[in-house]
Amino acid sequence: MRMQDMVAVVTGGAGGMGRATALLFAREGASVVVGDVDAQGGASLIAEAAQSGLNVSFLLTDVSREADVANLIAKAETDHGRLDTIFNNAGIEQPVTASDAISEQLFERVIDINLKGTFFGCKHALPALLRNGGGTIVNNSSVSAFANVGGNLSYAASKGAIMSMTRVIAIEYAARNIRCNAINPGVIDTGMNQRNMQLAEDPAALEQKWRSITPLGRMGTGDEIGEAVLFLATKQSSFVTGIGLVIDGGRIAT
Ligand SMILES: NC(=O)c1ccc[n+]([C@@H]2O[C@H](COP(=O)([O-])OP(=O)(O)OC[C@H]3O[C@@H](n4cnc5c(N)ncnc54)[C@H](O)[C@@H]3O)[C@@H](O)[C@H]2O)c1
Repeated sequence: MRMQDMVAVVTGGAGGMGRATALLFAREGASVVVGDVDAQGGASLIAEAAQSGLNVSFLLTDVSREADVANLIAKAETDHGRLDTIFNNAGIEQPVTASDAISEQLFERVIDINLKGTFFGCKHALPALLRNGGGTIVNNSSVSAFANVGGNLSYAASKGAIMSMTRVIAIEYAARNIRCNAINPGVIDTGMNQRNMQLAEDPAALEQKWRSITPLGRMGTGDEIGEAVLFLATKQSSFVTGIGLVIDGGRIAT
């Protein structure tokens, strides 16, 4: 019970690694408030959590809308009395597009959800964490902040900026007992990469490429990401702030 009596917010927790992390947090004793645009995924998460007696609630939330994110964090405080940690996880991929063919609309959509959504999560969690006497923020960046294969300019830009934002917050709030870290997942087996495969001309070749750039030779799982987020969200990582924790099966070591 590494999160006994803690209160957590997870954005983008209706699917993928956010869902795995929300369920892990709850299994470890936390009350978890999940925000996501996917109402159906949210309902199935609530049903799955209820079956195991886990304390997970859901609020329809678009992280690119500031009022939605403010409401999500207010719900955690209203329902559970405080906020201890937020996992700013919601994000979308950029379909592979040559950098000179990216429309302003596509660029803005990826930045709005990935970067602005993470900013809103930090901005509105910080006062709640200060009222709590401290807490933790974990932002979902990506190895794309450091290593790319091309065709994903807006995504890589959003994830690089999340690293910079994470460091600024870590420095600014360290003296007030708030730690802010990021994770940098490699290729993880979630809906995002299933969609990337569907869009590929040769899905089998794409999967083979992912394996070949990953020394451990496979995709990571949502549960493996959850364990890393749990570490950064709790006192197990009490002397860690301002880092990006790379969880990539060895990819950026190559
Ligand atoms: N899958 C990977 O290989 C990989 C690697 C590195 C980083 N990431 C990052 O991990 C995070 C989670 O991605 P995933 O792989 O689990 O993908 P996913 O598509 O399986 O899950 C993303 C979740 O975010 C939700 N979401 C999308 N837009 C939203 C919005 N505007 N507001 C609220 N929720 C929204 C989706 O409904 C979904 O439930 C993303 O930030 C992604 O960039 C993924």
